[in-house]
This record gives sequence, structure tokens and C-alpha cells, in this order.
Amino acid sequence: MKRVAVIAGDGIGPEVINEAVKTLEQAQQIYSFDLELVPFDWSADKYLATGISMPDGAMEMLRNEFDAILTGAFGDPRVPDNKHAADILLGMRFNLDLYINLRPIKLIDARLCPLKDRQPEAVNFVVFRENTEGMYVFMGGNFKKSSDDEIAIQEEINTRKGVERIIVAAFEYARQHHRKRVTMSDKSNVLTYGHDLWQRVFKEVAARYPEIEANHLYVDVLTMWMVLDPGRFDVIVTNNLFGDIVTDLGAALQGGLGMAASGNIHPGKVSLFEPVHGSAPQFAGKNVANPVAANLTAAMMLDYLGLKEAAVGIETAVETAVRAVETTKDIGGTLTTTEAGAAIRNYLS
Ligand code: NAD
Ligand code: IPM
Ligand code: MN
Repeated sequence: MKRVAVIAGDGIGPEVINEAVKTLEQAQQIYSFDLELVPFDWSADKYLATGISMPDGAMEMLRNEFDAILTGAFGDPRVPDNKHAADILLGMRFNLDLYINLRPIKLIDARLCPLKDRQPEAVNFVVFRENTEGMYVFMGGNFKKSSDDEIAIQEEINTRKGVERIIVAAFEYARQHHRKRVTMSDKSNVLTYGHDLWQRVFKEVAARYPEIEANHLYVDVLTMWMVLDPGRFDVIVTNNLFGDIVTDLGAALQGGLGMAASGNIHPGKVSLFEPVHGSAPQFAGKNVANPVAANLTAAMMLDYLGLKEAAVGIETAVETAVRAVETTKDIGGTLTTTEAGAAIRNYLS
């Protein structure tokens, strides 16, 4: 019996997570495994009502009593500083030390790619986004705030340990999944201290994996090649902020944010699975959000939990429904969220 904390979150989060949960329930019957899915209502609503984003002891509970966490999205226009999202989502990434943000970029059907004449083989790579440091550490401050002389400082943190473990994870993944190339992306021509560390560690780690081609692209030119020739990528490894940005671009190559799944992983420890997309508040409660990303995320979670057959089963069902255009409008279909979820489950057998 595996225990999964389900935090649906805000906006379209609850709608897409509801579909993912129904798929997981059906998968348990078909593939004979037991998940205990435990819901938590941590969200903007809860935060606005109580002032609390996550109760005391919640992190310890997740760390000690759960195998995985499945979340929708966090973000609500009524919380303009995004405080609860930072506490909950970034809080879990940091406190559970989920240093790998694994974001696969895989085109299911050629018609979904915004690039001309691209077959699915041309868009099939994974991004390893560093997930516990970089620009995300909230270090810095303001001096003379709101005056004409204001100074704002935002620090980027790169530690030897943090940089090394994400680069090692990318090479290990490449080795295990028979990917032939790892591309590290930074901006070391300008960020000559922090990203120089990435350069040195990358060369050192790459030497331990002689069978894997190691190459480097500055992040500006990386985005160019992602559009001109995504087929050249197998595994990309990059820092927290650049990884955030390039994976929305990657989502676009797959047909949009409704298609992109992700895992926040610390191998061997409780890990967090969430779609790449946010809470899309303008779609909330309208039954229009695409449940594909949430379903693929559920599949990633099962894979992480060692339930590989069920993971592949869900992925295949999603692919079949997408190719049959039994989907929501954002990817060309006519179905609602709940209908598109049911269409996926219809192919799960
Ligand atoms: P977003 O990902 O919520 O939406 C951007 C656009 O992508 C939407 O307008 C929509 O056109 C499309 N889209 C996203 N998900 C979709 C889906 N499932 N089906 C169909 N179309 C979909 O990004 P945003 O508008 O920049 O952010 C909205 C809020 O979400 C903000 O508060 C932001 O901070 C938050 N956010 C949260 C997460 C997270 O919790 N992981 C991720 C990104 C953004
Ligand atoms: C993501 C999101 C988050 C991030 C936000 C909501 C803090 O954009 O998961 O990609 O920047 O990491
Ligand atoms: Mn993002």
C-alpha cells in the first residue's frame, strides 16, 4: 500500500486533479495495486479564510507518512504576492529537498506541434531543472523602498553540492534511459561566478560518463535551437530559473501547457508530482481545462512508485485519446474536462 497526499490547490487545479484521481482509481482495479489517496485542502481559499497556508507539522507528516504527493496548481489573483503558493509549493520543494525537477517534453501527435512539419520523434527530450536553489531562494532585500533612491537586490545561489547533484542526476538518467547526449545550459558568459561553477562541475561530471556526449549551450541560443531543431536534444540540465522558463517553451512544443507533466524528485524520498501549468484562473470552474498534463503527471508518479505497468498503461491511454482528438478545445477537440478525462479512462484497459 502506497500513501499519496493529494493537494488539488487553486483555479483549475481541483478540476484536473479530480480527473487524475479517477484515472488512478481505475488503474488500481486494472493493475491490482493499492494506493491510499489522502486529500488536503491547502489552497488560496484556505489561506484567505484562516491566514495559514500549511499547518504546523505538515512537512514532517508528508516526509514521514507519505510515499508521494500529487498537486494541481497554486496561484490566485486574491493573493497578489503569491504567499501561499510560495509556502506550499516552493516550501515542499525546499523542505523535502526535491532537487530534481524532471520535465519531459514529448510530442504525442504531429498536429499539436506549432512548428512546421514535425513528427513526434523530433520532439522527445527531458529537462532536468535544478529545484532547490538558484534565483528561487528569496535572498536579498530592498533599501529605501518606494523612494527614488530605491535599491533592490535578488541573489542567485549556486552551491557546489547543488550543482553537482542535478548534473549527476541528468547523466545518470541518460545512462539508464539510453539517451546519448546531455546538454548543459547556463549564461556563464555573463554570470561569471555562479555559472562558471556550473561549467567546471559539468566538465568534471561529464568525464565520468564517457559514453554520453556532453555539450553546452548558452540559454539564449538554447531557446533558438528548441524552436529550430528540437530533435537535437536528449537531456537538458539547467538552473532553477532557466529551467522554469524553457519548460513552458517545451510545453508549447507539445501542444501547450495542458500537455506538460513534471516530477519534483529526491530519489528514494517522498516526491511531488504536478503538471507544469498553473492555476489558469480565467478557466477555473468552467470545465474546460485540459486534464492530459495531470493524467501524465499521475503516470509519472506511478512510475516513481515502481508501478511501471500501470504508468505505461495511463500514458498509452492518454496518447490514444489525444490521437483520436477526444480532447478539450485547447488541443483541437470539443470535450469538457470531465469528458476528456472519461475518454482517457475509456482507453485504459
Ligand atoms: P498558467 O499555466 O496558469 O496558464 C497560462 C495559460 O496556459 C492559460 O491562460 C491557458 O491558456 C494555458 N493553460 C494552462 N493550463 C492549461 C490547461 N490545463 N488546459 C488548457 N489550457 C491551459 O500560467 P499563468 O497564467 O502565468 O499563471 C496563473 C497562476 O498560476 C499564477 O498565480 C501563477 O503564479 C500560478 N502558477 C502556478 C504553478 C504551479 O502551481 N505549479 C505553475 C505556473 C503558474
Ligand atoms: C512552475 C511554476 C512555479 C515556479 C511558480 C508557481 C512558483 O511556474 O512550477 O513552473 O516558478 O517554479
Ligand atoms: Mn513555471
